[in-house]
Amino acid sequence: MTFWKKFRNEPVRKRRKSISSNLPGPENEKRTDFSFTGFDEDLLDLSEVMIEQAIGYIGVPLGLAGPFTIDDREIRIPMATEEPSVIAAASFAGRLLSKHGGIRTQSTEPVMVAQVFLEGNLDLSSVEKVLSSRGSIKQHLQKTLESMESRGGGWRSIDARWIAPSKTLAVNIQVDVRDSMGANLLNSVAEKVRPVLERITGGKVLMAILSNRSWDRTASARLSISTDEIGSVGFNGRETARRIVRAARVAREDFDRAITHNKGIMNGISALALATGNDTRAIEAAVHAYAARYGPYHGLSQYWIEENTLHGSLELPLPFAVTGGAVKFHPTSRWSLEQLGNPDGPGLSRIAAALGLVQNLAALRALVCEGIQRGHMNFHARRLAYNAGARGDCIPAFTAVICSENIRSREAAAKRFTAWREQINAESG
Ligand code: MEV
Repeated sequence: MTFWKKFRNEPVRKRRKSISSNLPGPENEKRTDFSFTGFDEDLLDLSEVMIEQAIGYIGVPLGLAGPFTIDDREIRIPMATEEPSVIAAASFAGRLLSKHGGIRTQSTEPVMVAQVFLEGNLDLSSVEKVLSSRGSIKQHLQKTLESMESRGGGWRSIDARWIAPSKTLAVNIQVDVRDSMGANLLNSVAEKVRPVLERITGGKVLMAILSNRSWDRTASARLSISTDEIGSVGFNGRETARRIVRAARVAREDFDRAITHNKGIMNGISALALATGNDTRAIEAAVHAYAARYGPYHGLSQYWIEENTLHGSLELPLPFAVTGGAVKFHPTSRWSLEQLGNPDGPGLSRIAAALGLVQNLAALRALVCEGIQRGHMNFHARRLAYNAGARGDCIPAFTAVICSENIRSREAAAKRFTAWREQINAESG
């Protein structure tokens, strides 16, 4: 049996043992100690049941941001991210807005789309054939949608489109998926209607799958703050607000800037998605596609000033689930949802929209005033301290040494750490 075949079929703990001795690669890159892929027994079992060929798990930092006031409720938001500044920025803007009424949100019903594509002897008239059979198609899906219907979701509508260039018929079935992300149900729906659609149209199914578009499942957030409160380094409140409005406008008009602007919005939303076990890729795909729904890709948030108030708003497709997949299965996801007061699916999407807007306000305010690099020196110093060998309480203490002595390189930090530790040991006897 080849190494990889054996590897695939082995249980996770055996895989971890065999990989270091068998994995091809430069000698100096081989690790016999697999503790960097985790050693919590329960999480190892979880990795094994969640994915294939698991060898461990990666400890992405989990933080608790806030407080935020969202729809008059004070909450803290769990965020999983590897990026410094993100949680601090969101928390700063969250606190600031909390003093002024917080953020208000809205959401639509959680409607998603299952797609079936047919080819063969078809033409534009196939569209009408599908639409006039909607009753029997719905009937055919009754059993598949029964459980979702009992929870208030289920069938919503059907439409069909003729894709002329590739001579393909696209059939879209809209389903309300309530608290789930919906992928499993939508894929079952798409599979189930295959034979009916073939019979009705005379075509052959090419593929059947959900669409991650999720544009019928949006959440929006809105904030208002007195311009007197928003001032930052070197600029009064009115000027800061004006610059924020201009920066958001630039992101709606400049393609390159729009990408970074929206990435900043997703810094918050993806971190919440990861902490709650949601499908980060599905959410990212839907949001970025939404940013191009009118043609050119554009920044998603909007800001404007009315008298002495800065207003901001954001609307996004947010297919957040509170059940299914890794959601509520992974212990971190369960804990995160508890922290948020166990919202329903649309409720979690509204929290995500609020977080995205707050994250964006914090980023724009920093960008148009003090600049984004300020504060980064401290993160750099913390990493230098860690790399030099500082652990636990020594990290903040040695970080202070690095900052006060303006140490910049890894080598210098390592050398200084040895001397510093000796000094500490000598002092403590
Ligand atoms: C960094 O991760 C995010 C920002 O670049 C967002 C932005 O530019 O709006 C600061």
